[in-house]
Amino acid sequence: MPFTIQSFDAPLGAEVIGFNFKRDASPETAEQLKQAWLDRVVLCFRDQDLQPADFVRLAGLFGSPTPQPLQREEYKVDGHPEIRVLSNRHTDTLGDNRPLRIGGSWHSDHSHQQTPPRGTMLYALELPSHGGDTSFTNQHAAYNALSLEQQERAKAIQVHHVYNSPFAPRKMQTLSAEEAQYAAPQAIHPLARPHPVDGRRALYLNPIRTAHIDGMDDAAAQELLGEMLAHSIQPQFRYSHEWRRGDVLIWDNPQALHMVSHDYPADEHRLMHRTLVQIN
Ligand code: SIN
Repeated sequence: MPFTIQSFDAPLGAEVIGFNFKRDASPETAEQLKQAWLDRVVLCFRDQDLQPADFVRLAGLFGSPTPQPLQREEYKVDGHPEIRVLSNRHTDTLGDNRPLRIGGSWHSDHSHQQTPPRGTMLYALELPSHGGDTSFTNQHAAYNALSLEQQERAKAIQVHHVYNSPFAPRKMQTLSAEEAQYAAPQAIHPLARPHPVDGRRALYLNPIRTAHIDGMDDAAAQELLGEMLAHSIQPQFRYSHEWRRGDVLIWDNPQALHMVSHDYPADEHRLMHRTLVQIN
């Protein structure tokens, strides 16, 4: 293997050291990368210099990059429907035009879908002078740290996920009637969800999307989900990524919550390309 994979001194995360996209992005290396991704939840490639097609090809080592939902002109990269531009300069153009603070509270991507994307990959193109870290939790470790009784209970609890939960801690962007069709599907997932690759369970939470629990009133459901979130975001399950320009990160949504801190100067640009990866 021409590169090495080194775990971070953290409950999740590893760096793929010495990865050269032109030399190393091959099907032969994909299996090693996929195993490290499954084991460490978040993988980081530093100092990348990728064209959009390269970025999609790198994501393709981990699964099938999928067309991004809710694409608008300002989010598009010509010829690459799998990429979405994430910029702090985007605003809620169909609503009150407030700056969009994408990802600013704990979440797991697109959990209102029956088959949410396994992976999310981000590529840092422009960064503010400080702040804007993305934090992750290891939801598999958080599940393992529950008592056996709590684990059994969590396996049996069925949680309803919708695009925009009435209990969400932040407001989603305003959707057009056409876009609302994307938001319409709902999904039910167990609170302790088996990983789609190896079946190991993880606490599957998403405060922006979790609306109801079968057989519980909403107050009790929100209390339970709040307790599970407080458990999951304890320091022993967390890693916070301080971005450098050229970083590419991929994370495993079934095993991680994530959140970006919008704590950087508002007049500085934070610009990322994002792609989503389904299991293939
Ligand atoms: C996201 O939650 O999709 C974005 C995370 C980030 O911008 O760091």
